[in-house]
Amino acid sequence: MGLLTDKVAVITGGISGLGRASALRYAAEGASVVVADINAERGKNAAEEMSAGGASIEFVQVDVTCEASQQALFNDVVARHGRVDTVLAAAGVSSSDYISGEVSEIEADPEERMFHNRMLEDWEKVMAVNVTGVMLTNKIAITHMLAQQTKGTIVNIASIAGRRPLPGASDYCVSKAAVIMLTSTVATEYSTSNVRVNAIGPGFIETPMTANIRQSPEWMETVMQMTPMQRMGQAGEIASTALFLASDESSYFNGQTLFPGGGMYVG
Ligand SMILES: NC(=O)c1ccc[n+]([C@@H]2O[C@H](COP(=O)([O-])OP(=O)(O)OC[C@H]3O[C@@H](n4cnc5c(N)ncnc54)[C@H](O)[C@@H]3O)[C@@H](O)[C@H]2O)c1
Repeated sequence: MGLLTDKVAVITGGISGLGRASALRYAAEGASVVVADINAERGKNAAEEMSAGGASIEFVQVDVTCEASQQALFNDVVARHGRVDTVLAAAGVSSSDYISGEVSEIEADPEERMFHNRMLEDWEKVMAVNVTGVMLTNKIAITHMLAQQTKGTIVNIASIAGRRPLPGASDYCVSKAAVIMLTSTVATEYSTSNVRVNAIGPGFIETPMTANIRQSPEWMETVMQMTPMQRMGQAGEIASTALFLASDESSYFNGQTLFPGGGMYVG
């Protein structure tokens, strides 16, 4: 028996990085996994690759910032699989111009990333994906889980940046702090129900999101100064944390954020 045998899982942002590693891990533990992402072409290819070894992983396109799109995703999953048991909200952006899979230069002029120089529309883009997207995923998943009356778990991906300020990334840090509080508040509201909600706040992990950092020796030095274990984490190390929080192994956890970050945040 796997930790998620016969469970139906939905993973937003599930075709890349932390979501993808978690999808593979959940499937290996017996789950039927729906990976949902904004990029349809990349998504179909990824799901084909991921399910090549026989894992039950399928792709559904979603834009997490759009309520109707998320409603359609969950309605489709429940119509075809009968229910949804566990949800991982992993879709996210590191900045308003971040496109997953594309490596961009880190802003040459740090002055441009100072808070007083940031544009409202850029701020709103980050909040739309990282905060509103996660909120909608939680709201719609909880609605289905309450109706089903079966045990449900939700895991939100926040970041250590939600606890530890990163200069030049005020929008990202605030969005991740919001995910931590969203998780605690929602979990507390539903604490006597059949639904548990927890979060993960990773440190620096090797995924497409950190590709630009990894190609900059100066940035890598900064990352190492912040990380007592002196290495970036692997996506599989976050997938293990997600699996724990998604499964009955974490049955007495609710509203908490775990911070796998090589000792970067121990508060
Ligand atoms: N990699 C890290 O070091 C790190 C650290 C802490 C937190 N995180 C968080 O982990 C999560 C996953 O990041 P990752 O590192 O795997 O990056 P990633 O770019 O590999 O994956 C993010 C995925 O989200 C999808 N996405 C973006 N906007 C979307 C939208 N509107 N609708 C649907 N899908 C959308 C992207 O297409 C991509 O597949 C993010 O929330 C990120 O902020 C990452």
